Amino acid sequence: MSISYNEKSKTFHLFNEEISYIMAVLPNGQMGQLYFGKKIHPKEDYSYLLELLPRSMASCVLDGEPPLSLEHVKQEYGVYGSSDYRFPAVEILQENGSRISDFCYKGHQITPGKPKLAGLPATYVEEENEAQTLTLVLEDPVTGIELELLYTIFSQGGIVARSAHFSNSGSAPVHLLKAMSLCMDLPDCDYDWIQFSGAWARERHPRVRHLEQGIQSIGSMRGHSSHEHNPFLILKRPFTDEFHGEALGFSLIYSGNFLAQAEVDSHGTARVLLGINPEWFDWKLEPGQTFQTPEAVMVYTDQGLNHMSQTFHRLYQKRLARGFWRDRERPILVNNWEATYFDFTEEKILDLAKTAARTGIELFVLDDGWFGKRLSDRSGLGDWRANPDRLPQGISGLAKKIEALGMKFGLWFEPEMTNPDSDLYRNHPDWILSVPGRAKSQGRHQYVLDFSRSEVVDAIFQMMSEILKDGHVSYVKWDMNRSITECWSAALPADRQGEVFHRYILGVYNLYERLTSAFPHILFESCSSGGARFDPGLLYYAPQAWTSDDTDAVERLKIQYGTSYCYPVSSMGAHVSACPNHQVGRITPLNTRANVACFGTFGYELDLNRLSSDELEEIKEQITFMKTWRNLLQFGTFYRLQSPFLGNIASWMAVSDDHSQALVGWYRILNTANPPYTRLKLAGLDPERLYRVREGGKFLGKFFGDELMNAGLLTTGDEEAEKASCDFESRIYILD
Ligand code: DGJ
Repeated sequence: MSISYNEKSKTFHLFNEEISYIMAVLPNGQMGQLYFGKKIHPKEDYSYLLELLPRSMASCVLDGEPPLSLEHVKQEYGVYGSSDYRFPAVEILQENGSRISDFCYKGHQITPGKPKLAGLPATYVEEENEAQTLTLVLEDPVTGIELELLYTIFSQGGIVARSAHFSNSGSAPVHLLKAMSLCMDLPDCDYDWIQFSGAWARERHPRVRHLEQGIQSIGSMRGHSSHEHNPFLILKRPFTDEFHGEALGFSLIYSGNFLAQAEVDSHGTARVLLGINPEWFDWKLEPGQTFQTPEAVMVYTDQGLNHMSQTFHRLYQKRLARGFWRDRERPILVNNWEATYFDFTEEKILDLAKTAARTGIELFVLDDGWFGKRLSDRSGLGDWRANPDRLPQGISGLAKKIEALGMKFGLWFEPEMTNPDSDLYRNHPDWILSVPGRAKSQGRHQYVLDFSRSEVVDAIFQMMSEILKDGHVSYVKWDMNRSITECWSAALPADRQGEVFHRYILGVYNLYERLTSAFPHILFESCSSGGARFDPGLLYYAPQAWTSDDTDAVERLKIQYGTSYCYPVSSMGAHVSACPNHQVGRITPLNTRANVACFGTFGYELDLNRLSSDELEEIKEQITFMKTWRNLLQFGTFYRLQSPFLGNIASWMAVSDDHSQALVGWYRILNTANPPYTRLKLAGLDPERLYRVREGGKFLGKFFGDELMNAGLLTTGDEEAEKASCDFESRIYILD
């Protein structure tokens, strides 16, 4: 890996074994983008890649020598309003009302490693030789604003991490109205755009369309990254598939309002923008003040979508997630939510826990309803003290009883919220986000606390610490169950109200940082009505996230498959739940529910005491299986094989680092009479090694890796299995 600068041609070349990223200073001093793709030879000069000739009668040319129009020029951080008409990366409202800026090259630094981003989650290195960072220093001569563009190239993987940092070195205040983390101008637009979209209980379904002239975009204005769209985007060549071809992945390490956009201009250049959503964003920068954007990560591959995903998985698993739990197998848990909802007593919880302990479950999680007067979702949020009517000896009392059964204890919080019917709200009605004189919106009967205020975050930290400091809580599920409305803070002046959405998220990150530092051994799982904040920002603090409130195995196939395009299996909370399923009413076999959930951080979410003894025996076997294989499932290399979005059969697999073991998950949604023979081509195996293949306790034979990857694994033809086949059937093939 290296970052080189050629003084004569003013060219920067960032490269490692896989990729090159090349840019140069344009004749007018701004930065031009030359190339991002497969590694090419280092050279002094690539100026032939600068396409500077004005293209049409309509072009406007900047005064100066040589004459230059930026209209179709590929840039690093485009600005609207002089000769470029595309959507810009930056917009700064100045004292005289102008929004035009002109950031010109002033200098640069190349440093080993990667700097931290103050107050924000970001990828990191453990050793300086894992990455190199280029800081381009640009300046707008009229306002005196300095812009640092940061580019980190990692030694491994086709990854470039980017962000922008503004300093107001001028003498007048300005308003940053738009400050994207990444602007990437591509020389052509022959790409399919893939977004990951949906709604509550059907999150992150891939949606594909070809790029066309004009704008295509997704984003969130809900105050969280949202169920509707994930802050992740793929551009792939039309013939790229899971195993072949070029693709670019763009991921934003942020949990709030975001925008991901591609604009194709009249000459086929494609501009990708990714960052904080400029709608409702207005950050005042007084002289001497600075602003840091969130980090965006770009991945390039020429080896298909699985390779791109694996690059994100490794980065996010090893160099975004942090702390004690980063590399550890995740405990098998049972959560009481779908077992009891709000209807529980300590006795009922202990009855569940006793059965759980007998099955080998390792962690008991008490969900919503243990605090304040929380008997339903209408009251109690914000009063983070155990309800003595339900838990006479408090949280520690219950936790000790659970520990005595041989399990760890975990607890649910929703720190950012309060109900109107709560002591917190009664004592501090000004602590919520709301606009004086206007109606307040409730979501699930709750208001959003103003986390842009440090005293609010401090108060919640104090209450949560009081509970956690006894040392009997080993896991925290941090929920967030509504979007933000009436985004206005009583603590900020009128000309800073456009900062509240971002300051809110900074407050969330601040609380996470303080809690994870104070309680480093607690495993945090993020959650937001299921998957509304399944984003890289939160993975920095919580290495796993509740993937969706939809626990149906068939729906989960789609949700987990879609989620896997960016996020590792070790980050996906996945539980076996009751049938008929509570979200869709579907009845699926118990083994299929487990076979889907085992490609995630595995657990249960059902009333174990309502199961038959046969079902409990089956659960014991599932837990033994998971304990044997979870390291491979959660930390192995994950491959998507057959998409549930394209047919009746879905499959995926995980391969150990040394290729000696693999697990294949195979799922058939509806049964077929008299099925044709089918074979499944596997991936990632050692072609030279002989693998023993087993399924459901049966030995199926020994096959070389090359046989399994090219001829394939026969998935039909077993007479006994076909007789017993049914809808929603699944299998796990064990290869070793
Ligand atoms: C929404 C979460 O996604 C559920 O798992 C559960 O924790 C409920 N909130 C509790 O209110």
